[in-house]
Amino acid sequence: MGNPFVVAVDGPAGTGKSSVTKKIADLFHLVHVNTGSLYRAVAYLATEAGFNLDFEEADHAAITRIAEKAQFEFRRMKDKNPKNRLFVNGKDVTSQLRTPDMSMMASKVSAIPGVRSALKGLQRGLGLQAPSILEGRDIGTVIFPDASIKFFLTASIDERVKRRLAELEAQDSEPISFEELREQIRLRDEGDTNRAVAPLRKAADAIEIDTTAHTLDEVVKMISHRILERFPAFGVKA
Ligand code: DC
Repeated sequence: MGNPFVVAVDGPAGTGKSSVTKKIADLFHLVHVNTGSLYRAVAYLATEAGFNLDFEEADHAAITRIAEKAQFEFRRMKDKNPKNRLFVNGKDVTSQLRTPDMSMMASKVSAIPGVRSALKGLQRGLGLQAPSILEGRDIGTVIFPDASIKFFLTASIDERVKRRLAELEAQDSEPISFEELREQIRLRDEGDTNRAVAPLRKAADAIEIDTTAHTLDEVVKMISHRILERFPAFGVKA
């Protein structure tokens, strides 16, 4: 039997991956998997265990063990916002994950090779259970190099900072200045792009979309159009 239908969407922070992939998932009835939330959950567990951004190579084995032992479960809860919740070791950690501190820690733990291998099988399993759309940094290159269709989203750094600031404001997070967030995103891009294992890269066969000057709905239309062009049998009203 061939693989189920998998859409891979990669790109740096703030390119709109989460909002776009959620909408595409609804339109095409795909399971939506935000792989960044798994790295964020490992960052959360590592922080709970007493590690901070200054952890060193000598700590890699301990943080890898945390990732290997963790039980992850996505649950859909209609009465919550967001509806898709991530439970780790039985606890709903969803609202703890999207803070600037957790973003930095997630980027740092994601560079540990053992953490990446601990999460690889899980991500493949999530994608293979049903037609799905996965968003992250290495979906088209490492997790699903055989994906049905791949996209790589980009946007200028200032536009990405603007979008993240709006997202943080909407969730009532602690205030952070444009400059500070810009520096954090720049550092995260640098770390994610230059790490030794599974760095952020556009897969050779990915369709690149620069979202800087486009609204969310326009990007959703562009992606839907490309999916329907390649898989006309989908026949959804996109
Ligand atoms: O998508 P996000 O911003 O929530 O991801 C948080 C961090 O997790 C990101 O800076 C790098 C890491 N990540 C990764 O290395 N590979 C993925 N597939 C997804 C996220």
